[in-house]
Amino acid sequence: MITLMTTPQQPAPWTPPSPPPVRFESPRFTIRAYEPSDAPALFHAIDAFRESYVPWLPWARSQHKTIADSAACIDRFRASMANPLAPENNAVFGFVYGVFDKASGELIAGTGFNRLAPEWHNAETGYWVRPDRRRQGIATEVLARTISIGFAPQCQGGFGFRRIHIFAAAANTASRGVPARLGLRQIMHARQDRWLEGLGWSDSIGWDVLADEWDLSRSRLRA
Ligand SMILES: CC(C)(COP(=O)(O)OP(=O)(O)OC[C@H]1O[C@@H](n2cnc3c(N)ncnc32)[C@H](O)[C@@H]1OP(=O)(O)O)[C@@H](O)C(=O)NCCC(=O)NCCS
Repeated sequence: MITLMTTPQQPAPWTPPSPPPVRFESPRFTIRAYEPSDAPALFHAIDAFRESYVPWLPWARSQHKTIADSAACIDRFRASMANPLAPENNAVFGFVYGVFDKASGELIAGTGFNRLAPEWHNAETGYWVRPDRRRQGIATEVLARTISIGFAPQCQGGFGFRRIHIFAAAANTASRGVPARLGLRQIMHARQDRWLEGLGWSDSIGWDVLADEWDLSRSRLRA
């Protein structure tokens, strides 16, 4: 009997969609690329609540000190969207989106993809929500929809990723609750791998999900 062995062939590296998705929706929110006119709203969303984002988001300590800072940041987000794999973009920005309340138009949260790994067709996502809007399921709704646009094929307006992962400080109870609520798989607990203001060396936890585990039409794990 002859057994034919087939060697898996590595697919070509992932390439960014061109043009990238600039706008998608969840039931309550419009999730879209920032525009220059969003600078005052972005400044307000961070500056008015700065202490509520630290120590988890170190950039909230140092950035968005003025509307002009936020405008410069938006310029960088937009430059990154156009060239996300440039190392200076990919490590920090990649694709950055604001989350706007459909009812009020207010900027209430943020998300995106960065640390894109073309060889592995992977990306990392994350989230923040304004403290006056927390515990309303916003991060959960936005993460679910962001994963769906991440996995949707590029020919259907998505990113075409194969795997998406999320990392949070182990001490960040609120952030840990979001992937947990979507039932994502915990993949790691790294000991003391990050420095957090006021806490020192801190553990990280990671979760991931693969495209074939995700129900795109329902924005949740397949049953
Ligand atoms: C983490 C964060 C985005 C959560 O946003 P949110 O919209 O309030 O989250 P959700 O309402 O979707 O909560 C999902 C689950 O997480 C858990 N959770 C959220 N906030 C929590 C809190 N303060 N304490 C305990 N559990 C919490 C709960 O299990 C919650 O489900 P439940 O409300 O049904 O019990 C928000 O707290 C935040 O912006 N924090 C500061 C920035 C940050 O830490 N970003 C993440 C960096 S990795």
